[in-house]
Amino acid sequence: MSRVVVTGRVPEPAVETLKAEHDVDPHDDSAPISREALLAKVAGADALVTLLTEKVDAELLDAAGPQLKVVANVAVGYNNIDVAACAERGVIVTNTPDVLTESTADIAFGLILMATRRLGEGERVLRSQTPWTWGMFYMLGSGLQGKTLGVIGMGGIGAATARRAKAFGMQVAYSSRNACDPAVAEELGATRLDFDELLSTCDVISVHCPYNDSTHHLIGAEQLALMKDTAYLINTARGPIVDEAALASALADDQIAGAGLDVFEQEPAVHEGLLNLDNVAMVPHLGSATIETRTEMAQLAADNTVAVLAGKEALTLVKP
Ligand code: DGY
Repeated sequence: MSRVVVTGRVPEPAVETLKAEHDVDPHDDSAPISREALLAKVAGADALVTLLTEKVDAELLDAAGPQLKVVANVAVGYNNIDVAACAERGVIVTNTPDVLTESTADIAFGLILMATRRLGEGERVLRSQTPWTWGMFYMLGSGLQGKTLGVIGMGGIGAATARRAKAFGMQVAYSSRNACDPAVAEELGATRLDFDELLSTCDVISVHCPYNDSTHHLIGAEQLALMKDTAYLINTARGPIVDEAALASALADDQIAGAGLDVFEQEPAVHEGLLNLDNVAMVPHLGSATIETRTEMAQLAADNTVAVLAGKEALTLVKP
């Protein structure tokens, strides 16, 4: 029996899978574990099942010890993990791709509708009991039909968001380091544009690339300045891909029409400049937050853990 430390609360079926074969040390609190408690808890672990709120760095790996074999992140993004430090210690890293594609695309499209049709702003009027009457020019938004969605990073989630856009009558363009699968491009009628052209021509730009050193502040003041003043920026990937201070100032100056954000640079904090703006719709990192998706994510992490501890190949390995 190996010692498996689960660093955050996860759905029970995944814990049961782990318990069937291993000695499991769960974390039963919904609040993230403190760093100090985490460093103590991981000592002697053969496997760590981690959430994106836990930083897995050299210090944590050393606190776990040389017997550690696998870090199974319950997220598709793994920017909380120092993959190189894991590789140096022979620790396998896994993530949870695919199972959260549709739920994250739902949130991306929800934010597109919230931002373009001013849904959050409308709800705030009612909740604050601000006087209103139906009016020909009252709270007009922007229609999506015939407009172009620009996808940054045409992986699974980008393509799933584009599929929703197509159903709403939008055209699809994308910018990616590599051309996407030709079958996907054909299905979506998607045109590949260079990054600056995508920014300057699309009506809604949705960010779906991974976060790493090369995508830090990929969208900053310069890129926002390229966007049309009628365009919207949506981010459901990772907060630091967008320079939040630059975005707040572009929105305050009506340099772009609006934004929809599920992720933030310093989660759980949100840049002060965004808080009082009506042209930004914001939700608290809900991309994968459905019962079904979270259950599948945790199950995949548990299955990865069991596989690696049994000396088998990981199901969804993060390449070092
Ligand atoms: C992920 O899996 O990376 C998501 O951000 C979690 O919601």
